[in-house]
Amino acid sequence: MSDRLVYLNGKFVAERDANVSIFDSALMFGDMAFEMTRTFNHQPFKLREHLERLYNSLRLLEIDCGISIDEMEQLTLDVLARNTPTEPEDVDWQIMHDVSRGPLSVYGSVFPEGIQPTVVINCWPMITHTGGFAEKYETGVDLMIPAQQTIPAHIVDLKAKVRSRMHYRLAEFQGNRSGNRWPIMLDTDGFLAEGPGWNIFLVKDGILYTPEGRNVLLGVSRATVIELAMNLGIEVREVNLGRYEALMADEMFTTSTPYCMVHVRSFEGQDVGDGTAGPIFTQIINAWKESVGVDFVAQAQTYAERLPQWNQQQ
Ligand SMILES: Cc1ncc(COP(=O)(O)O)c(C=O)c1O
Repeated sequence: MSDRLVYLNGKFVAERDANVSIFDSALMFGDMAFEMTRTFNHQPFKLREHLERLYNSLRLLEIDCGISIDEMEQLTLDVLARNTPTEPEDVDWQIMHDVSRGPLSVYGSVFPEGIQPTVVINCWPMITHTGGFAEKYETGVDLMIPAQQTIPAHIVDLKAKVRSRMHYRLAEFQGNRSGNRWPIMLDTDGFLAEGPGWNIFLVKDGILYTPEGRNVLLGVSRATVIELAMNLGIEVREVNLGRYEALMADEMFTTSTPYCMVHVRSFEGQDVGDGTAGPIFTQIINAWKESVGVDFVAQAQTYAERLPQWNQQQ
C-alpha cells in the first residue's frame, strides 16, 4: 500500500484517507480549478508558471482559496519532499493542485466547523503516466477532427484550467470510437483549437505555427516549445489555422505537461510528412531534454518496463 501523503485543507493525510465531501461544489458543478505540474530530476518544472495559471483560473471562478501563491509554492515543495522518498531516486513526479469553492452552503449543517474552500496538493509517480505513454514517442499519434467543438471564450474562457471538462471528454469518446485517434477540436469559427489535454503545433517550410491563444489553454509546454524554438532561431507564428493548413503541414506535434511533446503520425487519415518525427520536432525535443537534464523519452521507456511490477506492488 502506498505511503504517499496528500495536503488536504491544512493537514497532511495518507493518500487513502484524502477524501472530499459529497457536498463539495466540485462534485455538484465541476466548480473548481486545477493544475498539473511535473518534475525533472525531482525539480518541479515551471512551478511558478503553473501556480500563476492556477491563481488566474481561481480569479475567473471567483474562488479565494485563502492561501497566497508564495504559501502555495512552499506547500507544494513540502508535499513533494514528503513523497519523493517513497520511490527510487530516478522516479519523477506529477504534482496536482485541485482547488474548489468547498461544500455548498445549503449543506452547512454538516460542517459545524464552517465552510472552507477545498485545497488539495498531491504527488503521483510519473511511472504510470509516461510509462503508459512510452510507445507513442516511437509511433507518434493519429489525429482526427471530432464533431465536438471547443467552448467559445465568451462562455467559459478556455485560458482557465477548470474541471468543467465535459466537452473535452466527449471529444475523447469520439476519437476513441474512431480508431483510438486523438481529437483536435475546432473552435466555433472552424479553426484548429486544441485537444482534451494538449496544444497543437504545425511546421510548414521551416516555420513553426500554433493556434493563437484566443480559444485555447495557454499551455506551459506550448510556451516552452515557443521559447526553445526561438532560441534555436526557428520562426514561430501564432495564427488561425484550419484543416487545410494541417493537411499541408510538413510536421505536426502536440504538447502537454506529462509527456512534453509527441509527433503526429497522421491527420484525418493522411500521413503527416512520412509519418515519423520531423527535423524541427527533433531539434526542439532534444533542446528540451538538454535544458532539463533528463532524457524523458528514455525515462518513459524504463518506466514502461517497470510499470506492470509497480502496479502489482501498489
Ligand atoms: C485543454 C488543455 N489544453 C492544453 C493543455 C496543455 O497544457 P500544459 O502544457 O500546461 O500541460 C492541457 C493540459 O492539461 C489542457 O487540459
